[in-house]
Amino acid sequence: MDSRIWSEAELHEEAATLEGQGPEAVLRWGFDHFGQNEIALACSFGAEDVALVDMVSKVKPGARVFYLDTNLLFPETYTLIDQMKAKYNVSYEQVLPLLTLEEQAEQRGDELWKGDPDACCGIRKVEPLKRVLGTMSAWITGIRREQAPTRANAQVVEWDAKFGLVKLNPLAAWKEKDVWSYIMANGVPYNPLHDQGYPSIGCTHCTRAVKPGEDPRAGRWSGFQKTECGLHK
Ligand code: ADX
Repeated sequence: MDSRIWSEAELHEEAATLEGQGPEAVLRWGFDHFGQNEIALACSFGAEDVALVDMVSKVKPGARVFYLDTNLLFPETYTLIDQMKAKYNVSYEQVLPLLTLEEQAEQRGDELWKGDPDACCGIRKVEPLKRVLGTMSAWITGIRREQAPTRANAQVVEWDAKFGLVKLNPLAAWKEKDVWSYIMANGVPYNPLHDQGYPSIGCTHCTRAVKPGEDPRAGRWSGFQKTECGLHK
C-alpha cells in the first residue's frame, strides 16, 4: 500500500496501462495502492454495481461498500440490499442524509423533488457523498462511458477534482451487454425493476420506466433538464 498523493499525469499513465486489462485488474490496482479503509465502492445496487460487489468480494473480501440511502429508494431496491448483504462478504455502510424526510418537508417544503430536484439531490445524495468521501482517498464507481455524454471521457483511473480524491471506474469501457453477461454468468442478484423497463434506477419520485428505444437514462428526472444528480460532474 502507498498513500502518496497522485498527480493527474501519473493517474493518466496508470489509466493507460490498465485500459483493456479488465475491471478486476483496475480493482486490484486500487486495493494494492490504498489501504482497506481508504478506498470504497459506491453502490447504488444498479446492475453495474451489483456486478462490482461480486468482483470486489472476490478481489478483496471485506472491502468497504457504501450506499447513499436517500430514504426514497424503491421497495425492490431495499429487498435487493438485504439479499446482497446476505450473500457477499463486504463491509456495507448505509449513508443517510442529515435531514429526515419530515425535517426536509418542514425546512424546504413538501415534495422538494418536484419543485427543486437539484436541491433535493443536494440534501439526499451529494452532501452525504461528500461526507463519506471525506473519510477516504479513492472511490470506485460503476459509471460507463456509453451511459451518457457526460461520462464519455471517464477513465478507468482518474483524479476526481470535484471531491478531491482518486476515482476508479473499472467498468468504464463496458457495454450494457457486458454487465448482463457478468451478472448471468456469476449468478449475481439484481433489481427486478431492470426487467420492467427501468435500466437506470434512482429514487421513487424521480425515476420512471423507459419505453423501448428511449435513452436508458430518459427515466431519470424525466420532465427536467437535469441528467445528473451531481455525483459525477
Ligand atoms: S446518478 O448520479 O445518476 O445517480 P447512476 O445511478 O447512473 O448515477 O450511478 C452511477 C454510479 O454512481 C453508480 O455506479 C455508483 O457508483 C454511484 N451511485 C449512484 N447512486 C448511488 C447511491 N445511492 N449510493 C452509492 N453510490 C451511488
